[in-house]
Amino acid sequence: MNQASSFLFRLSFAVIMLLSFLSSSAPAHAVDNGLARTPPMGWNSWNRFRCDDLNEKLVRQTADAIATNGMRDVGYQYVVLDDCWQLSRDAQGNIVADLAKFPSGIKALADYIHEKGLKFGLYTDAGMKTCEGRPGSLGHEYQDAKQYAMWGVDYLKEDWCSTLPTQNAESSYTVMRDALAVSGRPIVFSICEWGSTNPWLWAGAVGNMWRSTGDILDCWQCKMSWGGNSLSEILDLMSGIGSYSGPGHWNDPDMLQVGNGGMTEDEYRTNFGMWAIFAAPLIAGNDVVHMSTATREILTNKEVIAIDQDPLGQAGSRVMKTGNLEVWSKQLADGSRAVAMLNKGESPAKIAVNWNNIGYPTDLTASVRDLWSHKDIGRLKGSYSAEVPIHGIVMVTVKP
Ligand code: GLA
Repeated sequence: MNQASSFLFRLSFAVIMLLSFLSSSAPAHAVDNGLARTPPMGWNSWNRFRCDDLNEKLVRQTADAIATNGMRDVGYQYVVLDDCWQLSRDAQGNIVADLAKFPSGIKALADYIHEKGLKFGLYTDAGMKTCEGRPGSLGHEYQDAKQYAMWGVDYLKEDWCSTLPTQNAESSYTVMRDALAVSGRPIVFSICEWGSTNPWLWAGAVGNMWRSTGDILDCWQCKMSWGGNSLSEILDLMSGIGSYSGPGHWNDPDMLQVGNGGMTEDEYRTNFGMWAIFAAPLIAGNDVVHMSTATREILTNKEVIAIDQDPLGQAGSRVMKTGNLEVWSKQLADGSRAVAMLNKGESPAKIAVNWNNIGYPTDLTASVRDLWSHKDIGRLKGSYSAEVPIHGIVMVTVKP
């Protein structure tokens, strides 16, 4: 090799090394803010309190409750004000809070929530107006992001109402991502365009979570004139998109309806348990100040939360479907599986999990533990089957 070709050889080797270093260190598919390494957990005002019932007293009482009723201890962190905290913009274009609802102002409320050992979240919209007609962030993204950071915001949900016909979801949300990145504060970014542009295909590089479906309705199966999805519809819509989510970027099938009164206890266990299988954000959407013991027990089931928060961050997938009976399986960091046996039918049914459906050989002996009855079932070879109630779920871990 002469001197010139040796130089060229060494140069191309260096370029290859540099490119391979860049491609292994740059998270090509994850928003680069280091947040939400496991799915965010918290509370949001919308499902239960909508617009009219949102106010400062409610939010303070909610933060008090989360800090003392066991929720904070099992991981609930973000207290998020949804639509209707904002009123107008001032002459300089700064967003102005509704001081009739929040007399102490947003900064004081954020401070209060932080003092409780919790984090604070706000809602805005990528269009001209929010879905309830309050000012949206279009054209004010950098100004708003800076204001949020000054108030102490840790989480931002951005909705998709009143957008311009020409507005593109990916580029609009990218503007807010970039505005948050220079706001001076780490802020989890929650994209809410209702799954309308298949956001799992692009949103991993833009936000920490993206709504994958329409607004969750508090029913197993119902329709609303304005849209939304019942729980049973969301369970179907979540099949096939799990591989797009992972640490820092999650599919979001919407806030929980657990405890809001429109479904049975079994259906609420399905809401909570399947969100854990999906590795979805666990954002309570009920009145946590006045909830029943049954609701609290669902929301604070540590064994189910551990499935949601498993550090591998791999979403589960549907591995068996026979009519209304399904089995979903989620691989965990220690190599074991979380398995949900889901009965979408109208009568109780026996559902079997075969080890070969969950990636194990049939002659393997594994420990099975039930995550709702908190009982070890035993060491089983090849399969496990259980009776599953109407619209209900049985959840187990299977550990070799
Ligand atoms: C949309 C969102 C909901 C909620 C409302 C508020 O419908 O999808 O989650 O934020 O707007 O108006």
